[in-house]
Amino acid sequence: MTIRKRKLGRGVAVVGAGMSRFGVHPDLNTRDLFVEAYLDMKKSVDRDFDPKDIGALYLGNAASEVWEAQGSTAALMAAATGLTPIPAFKIEDACASSGVALRDGVIGIASGFYDMVLVGGAEKMNTLPTDWNTLALASFSNTVYEGAAGFSFPALYASMATAYMHKHGIGHDDLLRGAIKNHLNGALNPKAHFKQTVKELMEARIARAKQRNEPVPGWKTEMDFMHDPRANPVVAWPNTLFDCCPVSDGAACVLLCAEDIARNFTDTPVYIIGTGQASGHDLGDRDTLTSIPAAKLAAKQAYEMAGVTASDIKIAEVHDCFTIAEVLALGDLGFFAEGKEAATAAGEGKTARDGIKPVNTSGGLKCKGHPVGASGVAMAVEIFEQMRGHAGARQVKKDINLALAHNIGAHGTTAVVHIFERRG
Ligand code: COA
Repeated sequence: MTIRKRKLGRGVAVVGAGMSRFGVHPDLNTRDLFVEAYLDMKKSVDRDFDPKDIGALYLGNAASEVWEAQGSTAALMAAATGLTPIPAFKIEDACASSGVALRDGVIGIASGFYDMVLVGGAEKMNTLPTDWNTLALASFSNTVYEGAAGFSFPALYASMATAYMHKHGIGHDDLLRGAIKNHLNGALNPKAHFKQTVKELMEARIARAKQRNEPVPGWKTEMDFMHDPRANPVVAWPNTLFDCCPVSDGAACVLLCAEDIARNFTDTPVYIIGTGQASGHDLGDRDTLTSIPAAKLAAKQAYEMAGVTASDIKIAEVHDCFTIAEVLALGDLGFFAEGKEAATAAGEGKTARDGIKPVNTSGGLKCKGHPVGASGVAMAVEIFEQMRGHAGARQVKKDINLALAHNIGAHGTTAVVHIFERRG
């Protein structure tokens, strides 16, 4: 039997996108965050739409049972946004929960079953002390072989980082330069978890020391700052604090509809023209530690469906939960060759907002934040804003007709890639 190549049964468009503020929000729960994202999304729809036309809610959420002792999250979010009684699906796939929800929403429209759906993601993570949080996140690994052996997520990605450094002869500074770049972008994003560049964080620490009459650190550059273990301690070598994404609370959502009705809601829809998803082995059973095979496969599927190549993509949001993860993504997506070329892209300005391939203009997971179940859809929100020229101070100054979002679940046991198009 020949399996035909996958294609969308009909076109799918994003006509609205919004997100809550990301960060540490002791006063907000998942419901508050999701409602904030929903209202932000509603504001972004250019012409009126009737929420009664939304046929279903697909919600990415990794573990509200753990962080808030709250299950049935999708149905509760439908109620909180006034969408009851529509069907509400909760999709759990670790850090790719809402990337997978987005794909399910796309399939829901493309199949002809629904004409309009809401796709969201939400996670409230700051309810536990750090060690419990680390344990909760480690449940996304293979707990029998990885979690039980003491691997935390910083440690799993550290294994990939050391393998990459050993194989390709790159240094830790190459990784840290990715963090500097993403903070430069995130500092321009009013909804980001951190709203400061690494330099500004360094200057704030110096000012704090002066104010407290403490010894004033002699840091002159971001690298001095990040080389100082008092400012940037090792979490799991080579992952230091600034190699890691933070633990964030946040939510995001997008409104999808069938292509043929998209212009009822806006003159500038953003079409989803390619989607790919694959699963992969844990680290012990994987053939390589210097790329994520599931991501390569998901990208191949998405490129083939969209009929485009890596070089056609103008901007990308990629899954940089740790600095090495962005480097892996640049290779897996075919933007730069695996090895020195991918590892030095940030340092050479190639992935900066004015570079040849801007990556993570939102600040990425590193700076914008990583409320795990919300991150996949938050990437789509950034792309929607950038493609429509609404990204404010961080707007990329070139015509963005094609963009890509790359969302990884856990350490690459899931990967999902979407390709977006703006026409005219
Ligand atoms: N980058 C830079 N600074 C960070 C940071 C990060 N990732 N995380 C926290 N900070 C800062 C805080 O803002 C705070 O600064 P301040 O003292 O100036 O206010 C300081 O570091 C301490 O913050 P705290 O929240 O107490 O840090 P922590 O030690 O509890 O947690 C990590 C730090 C790295 C352990 C935690 O952020 C973490 O686990 N990150 C990875 C999350 C993860 O694995 N997600 C899934 C990925 S697949």
